[in-house]
Amino acid sequence: SIRRFAVAVDGPAGSGKSSVSRAAARELGFDYQDTGAAYRALAWLAAQRGVDVDLEDAVIGLLDDFDYEIGLDPDDYFVRVGRDTVTEAIRDPAVSAIVSRVARIPRVREHLTDIFRGRIAQGDRPGIITEGRDITTIVAPDAPVRVLLTASEAARQARRAAELGGDTSGSVGQQLSARDAQDLRVVDFMNAAEGVTTLDSTDLDFEQTVAALVALIRGVPPAG
Ligand code: CDP
Ligand code: CDP
Repeated sequence: SIRRFAVAVDGPAGSGKSSVSRAAARELGFDYQDTGAAYRALAWLAAQRGVDVDLEDAVIGLLDDFDYEIGLDPDDYFVRVGRDTVTEAIRDPAVSAIVSRVARIPRVREHLTDIFRGRIAQGDRPGIITEGRDITTIVAPDAPVRVLLTASEAARQARRAAELGGDTSGSVGQQLSARDAQDLRVVDFMNAAEGVTTLDSTDLDFEQTVAALVALIRGVPPAG
């Protein structure tokens, strides 16, 4: 079978990866794969089962019956673990606080990476945009389009704060920075690897960022 068109998008928290990738996939008729949601779903399950995420073997044990599904249709996004729909629950601050410790376990990364690659390879739509931290480097280094989506730290914090209803207390920003710092010990998503195009969205609004990504995928320079 012919491999479908793969697009890889990485970047730090709050750079716009999820929302921009989903909108671009919708515009192109592609699937959209949120890999962070898989790490969050496993962290949610660990919390649900009372598993200490610092006990690597206990987390690895959860993989045996880790039955999750993430909607690939950009118009029908959901996250399911077992019989539970956890689309909202995995965004809980309690999950955000532990997800990096789940994601740093090599066996966890290998297990999920295999699943991500399977989703990239097969599907009804002609292409798929996969978004995360190590997609351009580890999960899909052969993807014909690989993009590092960046934005200044101030812009990323402001966007996240706005999403959460204008929280200007600074705690949102601190949590994002702390999670990025932990994640950076495992994978570098701040510097573009060789052959990866950097898309800096600091001075672009949402629609402009989507247009820039779509243009990169279509292989034409963005208008203007
Ligand atoms: O959307 P946000 O930037 O808040 O994070 P996410 O994409 O939902 O990812 C949640 C967490 O999953 C990250 O903080 C990483 O610890 C982990 N992750 C990863 O290790 N590798 C990926 N490809 C994607 C996410
Ligand atoms: O997935 P990631 O953590 O990288 O970011 P996101 O959750 O997709 O985006 C965070 C917020 O930034 C969303 O509310 C986006 O609409 C917003 N955003 C923006 O205001 N301007 C951009 N150029 C890109 C995203």
